[in-house]
Amino acid sequence: MSDASTPPSPAPPAAADRLDGAAAERLLAAARAAMGRAYAPYSRFRVGAALLCDDGTPDGTIVDGCNVENASYSACLCAERAAVGAAVARGLRRFRAVAVATDADRPTPPCGVCRQVLVEFAPSLEVLSEARDDRRARWTLDELLPVPFVPDSMSRD
Ligand code: THU
Repeated sequence: MSDASTPPSPAPPAAADRLDGAAAERLLAAARAAMGRAYAPYSRFRVGAALLCDDGTPDGTIVDGCNVENASYSACLCAERAAVGAAVARGLRRFRAVAVATDADRPTPPCGVCRQVLVEFAPSLEVLSEARDDRRARWTLDELLPVPFVPDSMSRD
């Protein structure tokens, strides 16, 4: 693993390969379960996220997160960023896919701040989202954030 001051390497060349059906189902189920633990007393909009982390094992490791709101509204934490923080704290920085679950009418993509946090680690991440009634969507992070600010953006050579 790289040390704390080393940013991740630049984007891998290939776009994310799609997760197979069973892996996608597992990840969406983890996001849905995390949604049930959301702390969202202000918006009442519960969000769960599950990151599939590449830890060298065949199936990878799933790390989840939920939104955590605060009476000081600007301190609210999104589910995706909670999951990224939990994964990094476990030493996992290679992300294969993220699933998001809500009970909205339509599948929701990660917000702009979460896209920026995700792109730091996984520019071509696969993003799955599930709304109520099993409505689903899939994107790649480079579709959602086509011109990202990444470590290399600060190059001055
Ligand atoms: N939220 C997330 O958890 N993820 C997103 O990508 C968008 C928004 C949360 C933040 C807040 O607790 C609630 O949803 C309403 O914005």
